[in-house]
Amino acid sequence: MSILFSEHAKTFHLYNQEISYIMTVLPNGHMGQLYFGKRVHHREDFSYLYETAQRPMSSCVYEDDDILSDGYSLSLEHVKQEYGVYGTTDFRRPAVEILQPNGSRICDFKYKRHEIMGGKPGLAGLPATYTEDGGEAETLRLILEDSLTGVILELLYTIFVRGGILARSAKITNEGKEALHLTTAMSLCMDLPDYDYEWLQFSGAWARERHLKVRKLEQGIQAVDSRRGHSSHEHNPFIVLKRPSADEFQGEVIGFSLIYSGNFLAQAEVDTHDTTRVLLGIHPMGFDWKLERGESFQTPEAVMVYSQQGLNGMSQTFHRLYQKRLARGYWRDRERPILNNNWEATYFDFTEDRLVEIAEKAKECGVELFVLDDGWFGERSSDHAGLGDWAANTERLPRGITGLAERIEELGMKFGLWFEPEMVNEDSDLYRAHPDWILSTPERSASQGRNQYVLDFSRKEVVDCIYEMMAKILSEAKVSYIKWDMNRSITECYSKVLPPDRQGEVFHRYILGVYDLYERLNTAFPRLLFESCASGGGRFDPGILYYAPQGWASDDSDAIERLRIQYGTSFCYPISSIGSHVSVTPNHQVFRNTPLSTRANVAYFGTFGYELDLNKLTEEEQKIVKEQIVFMKKYRKLLQFGTFYRLLSPFEGNLTCWMVVSEDQKEAVIGWYRTLSHSNLPFARVRLHGLNPDFCYEEQNTLETHFGDELMNIGLITSDGMSGQVEGCTGEYGDFDSRLYILKALPQNERKD
Ligand code: DGJ
Repeated sequence: MSILFSEHAKTFHLYNQEISYIMTVLPNGHMGQLYFGKRVHHREDFSYLYETAQRPMSSCVYEDDDILSDGYSLSLEHVKQEYGVYGTTDFRRPAVEILQPNGSRICDFKYKRHEIMGGKPGLAGLPATYTEDGGEAETLRLILEDSLTGVILELLYTIFVRGGILARSAKITNEGKEALHLTTAMSLCMDLPDYDYEWLQFSGAWARERHLKVRKLEQGIQAVDSRRGHSSHEHNPFIVLKRPSADEFQGEVIGFSLIYSGNFLAQAEVDTHDTTRVLLGIHPMGFDWKLERGESFQTPEAVMVYSQQGLNGMSQTFHRLYQKRLARGYWRDRERPILNNNWEATYFDFTEDRLVEIAEKAKECGVELFVLDDGWFGERSSDHAGLGDWAANTERLPRGITGLAERIEELGMKFGLWFEPEMVNEDSDLYRAHPDWILSTPERSASQGRNQYVLDFSRKEVVDCIYEMMAKILSEAKVSYIKWDMNRSITECYSKVLPPDRQGEVFHRYILGVYDLYERLNTAFPRLLFESCASGGGRFDPGILYYAPQGWASDDSDAIERLRIQYGTSFCYPISSIGSHVSVTPNHQVFRNTPLSTRANVAYFGTFGYELDLNKLTEEEQKIVKEQIVFMKKYRKLLQFGTFYRLLSPFEGNLTCWMVVSEDQKEAVIGWYRTLSHSNLPFARVRLHGLNPDFCYEEQNTLETHFGDELMNIGLITSDGMSGQVEGCTGEYGDFDSRLYILKALPQNERKD
């Protein structure tokens, strides 16, 4: 890995064994993009990549054109850039826009100098990838200046030793004499030389999150975004551009991911000459950050991953990075506790004894963590009251959280608790004491969502107050886990304490407040396991992963719905981050009946747990649950931290298949799922991946043996599994059937060649 600067050609070459990223200082001093892709040889001069072929008619010529000696006109419209500005001959959407006192928005950022450093600096107040020692990555800081306004633009590029990863962010500092307004500040601007890509996005709705959608790039703009104040159920701050011939296993793919949890924009603009500009960052709509003299604005970080090994190759790189160098702390590398959450078991209808009854059965079945969901505080007997009053309701819990936690711990389990820290009900003591603490626009109606308002987390005193209430409970009671919920989008986004010309900052300041609270709690309670949640998957993004290493992926707990949700989620996010539980049938969201085995076979590929009262299962079912938990404990490390491959897509057909392989390739678990049964089923094989071709694997249920090369080239025969032959098989070949295949490499002397 290295970052090389050629003084004479003014080119930068960032490379590791997999990728090269090449830029140049353009003749007018702007930064130009020359190449991003598979590693190429270094050369002192890459300037031939700067294409200046003149375009007829429509081009306008950048004023400083006389600096060019080669006779060509410099029209920024036709130049691939690093951080494009609109209006000085470039007409594409810009990476940065600054409103100046005279009303102009034109900027002219010219290269001044650069620094190259080992490792990777942190981003103040923001989540970001990190290194554990300086040798893991190198960082380039480009410093540019707009001389008229005195604004300094710092572009940060980090290349890691391993993986096709490039992390980027920008910092804008007002070193001029007058206050300015930053109205666009993207984290990443990437101009690609063609548009021969398919665009992949991960979209949906509440309980239908991160469904894969694919379309061909075309001239014009394609985008996904959120303007809801959270990354949202509707879209995810992650897109992929893949060559049409690329698939899960081969071909060129670039993933773009934003480490941020608020309003975002991910966009590709294909211009008239077939180049593509990708922009990723905070949504410019409504964004307006005032920069007084001396003030800076730091954008969130964006991560690009380039893969020649198709979509799985890209996903595995994201998984490793986000699992090891974005998630942090005590739980980062630890197997996650198997939990039982009471939400779908009781909703708001519980007493302490009822909870203990559920927990006792959970303990008997092998569950490790009991989680008390919504309804334990204030006057919270429905979703109309209580949010904001973070003290136990002693009618339900006579000895408070401390008493309940003690009883759970006495059973030999850990205790977890639900919070929704950012919200308040009108019917709450907090709201009665501080009605001005909510986000709402003066003299206009304040919209409620799920009967609640959003607290103004851009205000420190609000975050302080919530922190104090939470910290009190966490200090008094033995709480090992927090489920942090967020159940509505932000409307009438206005802070009572900011002046009118700073209201465009509130959305971002809000998210900074959320990050601040997470950070303070993580620091004060370093062993606490956080699970993020926003009505399920409404804020499942890399920003939150920095503070909470796992997230409840969706409120839809139906196994068949979960196939799509978890499959889509896996494109960017590691399996250890995907909260997935077994729930009752008929399922509470889609009223579907699925076999208990299939419900577990899907949930194993995640953090695993139960979202039901195990007392209500039959004895036979309870026996199966015990076996499931024994199975999960045995294979948990492999399932949560192994290398994950998608094999058959639920977005393409009736079958879904995925697998995980251990680092030493000696163990693998394959999950196979058939949505609907059909008569006279066809013959079927699935080609496996990631195995060692020379290892002889024994399937643990059938005890059949196959070499890795057979399983990867001939395939695993899935058409003739018989009842009882494979673990988890319902044996009925009915709808919603599933199987697990468990492979173990035999030692050399036990091979059955
Ligand atoms: C939405 C969450 O996604 C559910 O799991 C549950 O915690 C409810 N909120 C509680 O109100």
